[in-house]
Amino acid sequence: MADLRRADGPGRSGRPTLAVVGATGAVGTVMLRILSQRADIWGEIRLIASPRSAGRKLAVRGEETEVVALTEEAFDGVDVAMFDVPDEVAERWAPLAAAKGAVVVDNSGTFRMDPEVPLVVPEVNPHAVRMRPRGIIANPSCTTLSMIVALGALHAEFGLRELVVSSYQAVSGAGRAGVATLRQQLSLVAGTELGTSPGDVRRAVGDSTGPFPEPVALNVVPWAGSPREDGWSSEELKVRDESRKILGLPDLPVAVTCVRVPVITTHSLTVHARFEGEVTVDKAREILATAPGVVLFDNPAAGEFPTPADVVGTDPTWVGRVRRALDDPTALELFVCGDNLRKGSALNTAQIAELVAAELS
Ligand SMILES: NC(=O)c1ccc[n+]([C@@H]2O[C@H](COP(=O)([O-])OP(=O)(O)OC[C@H]3O[C@@H](n4cnc5c(N)ncnc54)[C@H](OP(=O)(O)O)[C@@H]3O)[C@@H](O)[C@H]2O)c1
Repeated sequence: MADLRRADGPGRSGRPTLAVVGATGAVGTVMLRILSQRADIWGEIRLIASPRSAGRKLAVRGEETEVVALTEEAFDGVDVAMFDVPDEVAERWAPLAAAKGAVVVDNSGTFRMDPEVPLVVPEVNPHAVRMRPRGIIANPSCTTLSMIVALGALHAEFGLRELVVSSYQAVSGAGRAGVATLRQQLSLVAGTELGTSPGDVRRAVGDSTGPFPEPVALNVVPWAGSPREDGWSSEELKVRDESRKILGLPDLPVAVTCVRVPVITTHSLTVHARFEGEVTVDKAREILATAPGVVLFDNPAAGEFPTPADVVGTDPTWVGRVRRALDDPTALELFVCGDNLRKGSALNTAQIAELVAAELS
């Protein structure tokens, strides 16, 4: 196992030096905002992106900071490097950053299922952060993260036995291109009578479906990710594999259907969770109401349940519509919302980086 401390310790300021790789992207932009809002534990914060962005100035902690291009030298003196870049960029550069002594916290899908890379959610398995023989820690995917804090709390009390999940995923889960596509499509359909005959929306948006296989404005698209065997999508398998790894339940039966909806940011999920024994709604509500990082917002008679319109921009996992399954006293039905760019991505990465910084300090 690699030495957990850099030989030369934290940076000159006495605080660890942080690199944000992919600082200009959808996740990187939220990361800079989060770093400005959380306790200021870092010395230098170095912003890194592609050569296209080198020289741009971005605000972090109230200071204009110049973006530098991704090179090996960019990791000189870096203690912790967050990677918010596409898979192929992380695959090449994360091991190089780790070889230069930085602890990498990677947000891409590249290392999540590597047995030598821990997959960490600080509210669920914080201890795993120290088991990092490759010097890399992985951040789960936004869809898994949007529900796993609530499920981890219920699992700790009831013992999870099966999950059936449907997602309602926001377009920012597909990065800046996803957001740009929905905004453009909305401008093409706004104020029209479209959505009343087959193909009228498709004709209006033309070829501009961006990262999505179908129009996403005025529509729902039962697909996220890329094709895998037997009709499954990569996103669906991620939720299954990652939930099993984070909860330490390698054989947990998990069935997932991922759906894209015309929401800018905040993923929602319906969850059917079956447990070891009988459950009660009262106990489930008590657990969810007191679990760190979870907000129970559940009074449908008063019109109170979470929706992306209210949850976006907030940190917790919001849970509503808590019911016991009508035909199975061991199962619960939940509706869960989480901001995919905050807890679903940047916030969880920041929390992991803070755990590492606490070790280094
Ligand atoms: N969006 C989400 O909800 C979400 C959630 C969890 C995880 N993730 C993961 O987080 C990562 C970033 O996603 P995103 O949505 O933020 O993507 P994005 O908006 O497309 O941003 C990509 C970032 O990577 C940089 N980049 C691209 N190619 C590069 C290269 N060759 N060298 C250096 N930097 C390069 C870009 O820099 P330039 O601006 O210079 O091109 C930009 O900063 C992905 O792996 C994604 O799967 C995303």
